[in-house]
Amino acid sequence: MTLRPLAAAALAAATTIGLFAVAPATATSSPLAGHVANPYLGASSYLNPDYVSEVKAQANADGSAAEASVANYQTGIWLDTMAAIGGVGGRLGLRAHMDKALAQAAKGPVVIEIVVYDLPGRDCAALASNGEIPATTAGLTTYESQYIDPIASTLGSSKYTGNSNLRVVAVIEPDSLPNAVTNQSKPACSTATPFYEQGIEYTLNKLHAIPNVYNYLDIAHSAWLGWDSNMGPAGQEFAKVVRATTGGFASVDGFISDTANYTPTTEPFLPDSGIQVGGQPLFSANFYQWNHYFDEHTYDTAMYNTLVSTGFPSRIGFLIDTSRNGWGGPNRPTRVDTSPTTPGAYVAANKIDQRPFRGDWCNQNGAGIGTRPQAQPFGTADHVIAFVWIKPPGESDGDYPSGSHTHGDPHCDPAGTNTDGNGGTYSTGSIPGYDVPAGQWFAAQFKQLVANAYPALS
Ligand code: BGC
Repeated sequence: MTLRPLAAAALAAATTIGLFAVAPATATSSPLAGHVANPYLGASSYLNPDYVSEVKAQANADGSAAEASVANYQTGIWLDTMAAIGGVGGRLGLRAHMDKALAQAAKGPVVIEIVVYDLPGRDCAALASNGEIPATTAGLTTYESQYIDPIASTLGSSKYTGNSNLRVVAVIEPDSLPNAVTNQSKPACSTATPFYEQGIEYTLNKLHAIPNVYNYLDIAHSAWLGWDSNMGPAGQEFAKVVRATTGGFASVDGFISDTANYTPTTEPFLPDSGIQVGGQPLFSANFYQWNHYFDEHTYDTAMYNTLVSTGFPSRIGFLIDTSRNGWGGPNRPTRVDTSPTTPGAYVAANKIDQRPFRGDWCNQNGAGIGTRPQAQPFGTADHVIAFVWIKPPGESDGDYPSGSHTHGDPHCDPAGTNTDGNGGTYSTGSIPGYDVPAGQWFAAQFKQLVANAYPALS
């Protein structure tokens, strides 16, 4: 899993993206019967027993009630290998999860969250979560027949589809189409892109055919696709892939931002990126690199408008992964400070995002658990329909090559650097002293995320 921006102010300024035509929907855009507008509304949460065990073991070892409280919140179930569908390493498989969720559905509506994450050539811009399937035509066939078909046939069992209380939220292939938009200069991404597009088309076709599955496509986060020069092309890319599906725009319920990332939902002391400081707008600060969107709420609003103008129906809903974007703790500003006289100093004094660089994405030092999962966090009129925890807090983003192993991503090395495309170099921001593979339990990170939770956990 990587979430890196094309951080290029010069490029943002130089690229000319013309206004795109507003195209009509090619197919019906009305949802299926039995489908509700917001699956989270009025539904209980299905808690992944494997994650609950990880959290409880840690909380018991530490004697921490705050840590134990994390087990009360829903997290995504990552189907990150073909084997994970059947259950691997003592973890439950999809059918076992579905049976438990079905039992819970006897008492009323319940949401279960799965992450579909195994495209050919997965994670093309990084090395932390490299896929098991090659980016080849044969790989695409493997993805379709050995990965998506088993998921679809499980979810499509009549015992599950026959119970409309059971709502399956599918987060589809984090980072993939964002990489298709911004990372074509990387050979691994240009090679993988057609397989990403065809793979997602296939996935949407299979999952949309199941009435109680709700499909959400990943739109990365504000510090990746937020630049105007990325957002327009992103809208075109999403529309191209979704239009190609059998159901057209009806195949998608909405989008998710900030999956497994750390970008704040709001920057409470930087509510207007255009404020002038020292004669320059705040978004000119190096930390933002001329990106207008400082947080996920403003980003999702802009992305909504982009997607609707590209042809998506106005009903699309947005999820925000708030599992690790809280940024509480001692370094969080508590009030606006208007004294700085340059955009850079003003931003530094007021931002809650403590990363050295917004493109940092791996095991961020100082991060905290964010707002708890919640339906309609901004009320009924907002396009954000729920806060969710897709990345399970405490599971690592990735390891890095070291003396003892070659696997991993240098962007996860606490001693390593990230670059912004304009010649700027920054610390990766990763927690020093650890080297934990993607998806594995990372106790020190979990403790830090709990300690820096915002709002605080009790
Ligand atoms: C990893 C997956 C893991 C997931 C949840 C991803 O970054 O690639 O293997 O299951 O995070 O922790």
